[in-house]
Amino acid sequence: MDSIIVTGGSELNGDIPIAGAKNACLTLMPATLLSEDPLTLTNAPRLSDIKTMTTLLESLGTEVTSMQDGQVLAMSSHKLTNLTADYDIVRKMRASILVLGPMLAREGQAVVSLPGGCAIGARPVDLHLKAMEAMGAEIELKDGYVHAKASGGLKGGTVEFPFVSVGATENALMAATLAKGTTVLKNAAREPEIVDLAHCLQAMGAQIDGEGTSTITVQGVDRLGGATHRVVTDRIELGTYMLAPLIAGGSVECLGGTIDLVAAFCEKLDAVGARVEQTDRGIRVSRANGRVAAIDVTTEPFPGFPTDLQAQMMAMLCTANGTSVLEEKIFENRFMHAPELIRMGAQIDVHGGTATVTGVERLKGAPVMATDLRASVSLILAGMAAEGETRVNRVYHLDRGYERVEEKLSNLGATIERIKGE
Ligand code: EPZ
Repeated sequence: MDSIIVTGGSELNGDIPIAGAKNACLTLMPATLLSEDPLTLTNAPRLSDIKTMTTLLESLGTEVTSMQDGQVLAMSSHKLTNLTADYDIVRKMRASILVLGPMLAREGQAVVSLPGGCAIGARPVDLHLKAMEAMGAEIELKDGYVHAKASGGLKGGTVEFPFVSVGATENALMAATLAKGTTVLKNAAREPEIVDLAHCLQAMGAQIDGEGTSTITVQGVDRLGGATHRVVTDRIELGTYMLAPLIAGGSVECLGGTIDLVAAFCEKLDAVGARVEQTDRGIRVSRANGRVAAIDVTTEPFPGFPTDLQAQMMAMLCTANGTSVLEEKIFENRFMHAPELIRMGAQIDVHGGTATVTGVERLKGAPVMATDLRASVSLILAGMAAEGETRVNRVYHLDRGYERVEEKLSNLGATIERIKGE
């Protein structure tokens, strides 16, 4: 397994290109299953999760042609040859569950392995299944697989989510586009990735209203056509790299970034004393006056503070002036970066879903372990300002969500290199 070694102390200056959103691409790709016509995605990120989704779709009969160094994905699901999403692929990536809705809507049946949990929590899919049942599907769980049937096709219905779920909203939205009649999604997720998916489905001929609000209405159609769609900018990669100059010093312009994607996050950056400026190329960030101030953060569904930026924010607050309290309200176990940051000298107390961070002058480099995607990058960020060398092990987590991270950061002046694992 590869490791990444970061040596702290260099300021960061320059431009950093922000890629297309992993969490948009992972729901846009299964949308190909809804149509016999080609769906082409541009601005696709070059990540291992995208390769995993490609393998899954190919196992179902989709032809995927990757072009322009992986930034264009031309997909054709003219004929599906297999309606079972196998455990061996699904266990690698939870987003695989997103083939359930489209497959069920197109073929009237689907067999999808239960994804299993992951490091940050149990992450059940009960809301996905209830949404399919609300559209008339019969669901049976057998031998670790979801067996879904909708003989005669899905029917429009009302789906009331008891709490916001991004994935369940995406699955239900895709399924509803081909259901007979009208479907209403209540308490739907409002993330930009949902809006991006809706825009792509509309380009394919879907009748969708209310995307980006808590109530989405879908008028089912008989068939969907093809489309070419540009994947929205990755707001989590954007927020991650906006923090880099606040941790290491310097001034960085995140190309392609727009404030609307990270509004709640920017409010927090203003409060800690960052200078955040929308330019005509992206978002420029630097410290307004020396050491950042401490601040409290609570993660919420969009438009609240994103859970996917909690670990990275904690890395910055480890050297803030004062004490910060971070509350993780979305996942039950998303502070695994805390023990690793403590190894670097951070002062963090974790009790249940609350972490109290008392800022120290400077962290010290140390060997640390990546546990999940966002925890991994928070350790890289911390290492860029720490004294000495930080070796982050198991960086395969990182490669799932951050393309060419060492290349992008060394272009800003960071001292960072990848050590190939055995
Ligand atoms: C998506 O996961 C993202 N992944 C996650 O990003 C992100 O953290 C999350 O949304 C929240 O914003 C992708 O888009 C591929 P949820 P998802 O359904 O859809 C519980 C990253 O780092 N829940 O909104 O799985 C669930 O356990 C990843 O890029 C149920 O109980 O998240 C969680 O506690 C990590 N039953 C909460 O709801 C269900 O059926 C929110 O989950 C579904 C979810």
